[in-house]
Amino acid sequence: MPVVATATLVKDSKSTRSTIALKILMAGSGIIFIVFVLLHMYGNLKAFQGHDDFNEYAHHLRTFGEPMLPPSGLLWVLRAVLLVSLVVHVYAAVSLWRRAKRARTVKYVVKKNKHSTYASHLMRWGGVTLLLFIVWHLLNFSIGKVNVTGGSTADPYNLLVDSFDTWWLTLIYLFAMAMLGAHLHHGIWSSLQTLGLTNTERSRARAKTFGLTLAIIIAGGFSLVPIFVLAGVISK
Ligand code: HEM
Repeated sequence: MPVVATATLVKDSKSTRSTIALKILMAGSGIIFIVFVLLHMYGNLKAFQGHDDFNEYAHHLRTFGEPMLPPSGLLWVLRAVLLVSLVVHVYAAVSLWRRAKRARTVKYVVKKNKHSTYASHLMRWGGVTLLLFIVWHLLNFSIGKVNVTGGSTADPYNLLVDSFDTWWLTLIYLFAMAMLGAHLHHGIWSSLQTLGLTNTERSRARAKTFGLTLAIIIAGGFSLVPIFVLAGVISK
């Protein structure tokens, strides 16, 4: 085999290996997010049990693990894990995005089918929307504690109710949850593909159902609290 062709093959196989490594990093950090959002969504449902139960849960988040851990110790561990996962997830996404772009301009033109182009746009812009949502969300409920009604921010339950009593804020959250659902749906499918779990017709169907079910449970479960606050079922 000519030297140039061998060198190209070696380069290609190296590049394929690192693309797979990036996809595994995406899937791994994605799994950490899925576990977190499932627990967070379940915790939010405490709002249906009323003021005291919800606030006790919010307080418990900060005292969990004491006295073995310092106050808010577990919360800080969680924050660190989430931050590292976020950096890894975004880094892998941007690297894969760049690779795909390079492959399109330098190599031959492959006409992708409409469905995969739509899915990759949705993942990209959906991901950017979710990043913006997370920044606002942390300002709203965690780092900043912003009450858009101008009311008090000292009581977690009241802040939650005030926020979702505001129709436009509820609308923003519901939109973000729809984006989250779509992101999870496609992300779970493509990570199962990376892990080689979609090789047969049956496993493909199972992977699709699994992704869709998890996306509906998480996005739907998160949407319940804002909807029921706006409807006046969860109130102060
Ligand atoms: C309708 C959807 C959601 C509602 C109602 C909601 C509600 C809340 C509330 C009330 C807190 C403050 C908890 C406390 O510190 O007492 C919180 C914190 C947080 N939420 Fe959400 N959340 C939602 C969706 C999400 C999503 C989709 C994500 C991530 C993808 C997320 C990530 C976080 C994070 C990272 C914190 C900060 C925990 C901390 O460090 O203090 N939330 N959320």
